[in-house]
Amino acid sequence: MSYGAPSVKLVSSSADETEEIGFRLAGVLKAGDVVALYGDLGAGKTTMVRGIARAFGIDPRDVTSASFTIVAEYPGARPFYHIDLYRIGSEEELEQTGFWECLGGSGVSVIEWPEKIGEAVLDKAIRVRLRHKGNDMREIVIEGLDEKDRHHLQTGKA
Ligand SMILES: Nc1ncnc2c1ncn2[C@@H]1O[C@H](COP(=O)(O)OP(=O)(O)OP(=O)(O)O)[C@@H](O)[C@H]1O
Ligand SMILES: [Mg+2]
Repeated sequence: MSYGAPSVKLVSSSADETEEIGFRLAGVLKAGDVVALYGDLGAGKTTMVRGIARAFGIDPRDVTSASFTIVAEYPGARPFYHIDLYRIGSEEELEQTGFWECLGGSGVSVIEWPEKIGEAVLDKAIRVRLRHKGNDMREIVIEGLDEKDRHHLQTGKA
């Protein structure tokens, strides 16, 4: 745990707002970046992925919340991988999904249920924590960005 690391804290009051925060986050992502999305069932992880995907030119409706597809790859100028580890049961299973190839490449990977894999793998990941705050409110804390990018997230400006 990197307790005390500089972070951005945002509040979302709707699914659309969370998607928009994802879109804004995508604006600071670089080749090879890994985004780890932490949060309970229904916290809004997939919703946020839709916003990130939209920024990559992907139709957000193509981003599914069914966790049967463990690795969904979207080709484009920069490959985009939506990875949902909820149903991963073993190391062997993970190998078969092509997970490691995604992480090693020049694409951007976003991971739901990153708790399922070792912390070491996520060493350089941008960590996003989504928390229920009653009704449609969510607290979204993002860690692992430099000061300029934190400013962009907070204000929406470059
Ligand atoms: N502020 C909000 N941000 C995100 N989603 C919200 C918000 N308010 C309500 N919702 C609703 O909560 C649900 C979030 O679902 P989503 O699939 O994004 O969660 P998830 O974290 O990916 O869950 P899972 O662990 O099952 O994959 C959606 O039905 C969405 O409409
Ligand atoms: Mg999900």
